[in-house]
Amino acid sequence: MTDKITDTMKNEIEKLVQELNYHCYRYYVLDSPVIPDEEYDRMYFHLKHLEGKHHYVLPDSPTQRVGAPPLEKFEKVKHTEPMLSLDNAFTQENLVEFEKRIKRILKSDQDIEYTVEPKYDGLAIELTYRKGLLYKASTRGDGYEGEEVTRNIKTIKSVPIKISDDGSVPDEIDIRGEVYMDIRDFEQLNKDREEKGEPLFANPRNAAAGSVRQLDSSITASRKLHLACYGIGLVKGFEFKTQGKFMQWLEKARFPVPTLIKTVTGIERVIQVIGEIEENRKGYSFETDGSVVKVNSFDLQKQLGMKTREPRWAIAYKFTAHQGITKILDIQGSVGRTGVITPFAIFEPVRIGGVTVSRSTLHNWDEIERKDIRIGDTVVVERAGDVIPHVLEVIKDKRTGKEKHFPMPERCPVCGSKVVREEGEVAARCIGLNCPAQVREKIFHFASRGGMDIEGLGEKNVEMLCSKELVKHFVDIYRLKKEDLLALPRFAEKSAQNLIDAINRSKSTLLPGFFLRSEYFMWAHTGRNFSQKTSGRLKIFII
Ligand code: IVH
Repeated sequence: MTDKITDTMKNEIEKLVQELNYHCYRYYVLDSPVIPDEEYDRMYFHLKHLEGKHHYVLPDSPTQRVGAPPLEKFEKVKHTEPMLSLDNAFTQENLVEFEKRIKRILKSDQDIEYTVEPKYDGLAIELTYRKGLLYKASTRGDGYEGEEVTRNIKTIKSVPIKISDDGSVPDEIDIRGEVYMDIRDFEQLNKDREEKGEPLFANPRNAAAGSVRQLDSSITASRKLHLACYGIGLVKGFEFKTQGKFMQWLEKARFPVPTLIKTVTGIERVIQVIGEIEENRKGYSFETDGSVVKVNSFDLQKQLGMKTREPRWAIAYKFTAHQGITKILDIQGSVGRTGVITPFAIFEPVRIGGVTVSRSTLHNWDEIERKDIRIGDTVVVERAGDVIPHVLEVIKDKRTGKEKHFPMPERCPVCGSKVVREEGEVAARCIGLNCPAQVREKIFHFASRGGMDIEGLGEKNVEMLCSKELVKHFVDIYRLKKEDLLALPRFAEKSAQNLIDAINRSKSTLLPGFFLRSEYFMWAHTGRNFSQKTSGRLKIFII
């Protein structure tokens, strides 16, 4: 039954929307929530209920971020002002030249003010707001024309659907920024994909771009994406004097902005700030391969103008990439917990950025084909930020003709069972039910911190217990005796007792939602007694 809506009810809904949007901002933009998640959820569901009951939905309601049906294709969007790319500087001299060129064009020796901030490695997008409401979001595309991805971008909780109104909302404004994925979330996403037998993303940038370019926005919604706003396109009914002032306005209007933005005078100070960013970058949650330097004054920016594709008023300083050249000695497949076979390369060991690298994942066979990677190839390996090393490219000039392709194996490298690649799947999968590699990975996963958290059952010990056939199934862990362990080279009196204690501790453990996964239940022997606690958590008793 639909009730006729009263002004009081309208007010209640409006207030709820406002409050929820504020809490969303505290959580996703400031990273400092002021209410518990449960309280947010309670308010959200109450709002959803009221909206349904009274058919009164505000355009900036948080309920409008999700739920649109999948698209057939993306519409094209022409950018009112082209979305340019950036010229690169690799050395301090390049930055000094950049400043000299600016002064030459301006025919002035006046001090120049710049803004300096980290360069985000993601996907550039444009957000068009009309009368304060998000009207359209589009990808950069070729800089002149991109694709409309509004419903996908709306699922990113830090993107304001409405510009926070303090009386300074332009009639229309195009805001540019980078959609990116944190390194940890990228790694977790790849882990999940590996388990599901889906192709891996090569880096956080590809993961962000792949997540935004989805016809089904519910997939985008399931990915942890962020936004950092850094630029302006067309603006009507408003004037900003400087980049710094524009950034301050963005912050006030509750847009997410780069973690660090500094306004400084003179290229020497710019170089100092870049040094700070380079030093801090290990602590950043996202990947950055440089800093962006922009002339602060919009007037000067206009005078400086642009080259074919890049402005003369900005430059990207690239940090020294941690790269190395090495040779691929072999390519092998590693079998995961669910049988997915992931190819990896074994290199002649090479020092990259202070770390010796001797192997790296090749993600999947599509990636091998796309980069045309062969055994014996000389390759450029890159370690970007905290991300695991990857093969950037093959140096084809170094080929001798003796390099060998590594086709997808027909048989599992561990158990010899058939390998299948199902329709529409990029991953190859071993279908052997008792494949020792799968068993080992399952047991390792079971005992790991996210599971039963059995200290002492790390990869090496699991490997040994499996190879000695002491553990073939996770329930065998609970049949282990101290004598069994003492017979093994890796254990002495104390370490054996510690492991037995850790196993006993895990016998009755309150587990988080993780353990509600059905796979272990399906894998479990009969005769185990599971009982459901009323709290919704699960208590497992092993008799
Ligand atoms: S300013 C006129 N600032 O880098 C160009 N770009 O390599 C305006 N990017 O297309 C861009 N972080 O997608 C700017 N803090 C930042 C950035 C940034 C990442 C991207 C952007 C641009 C690309 C150029």
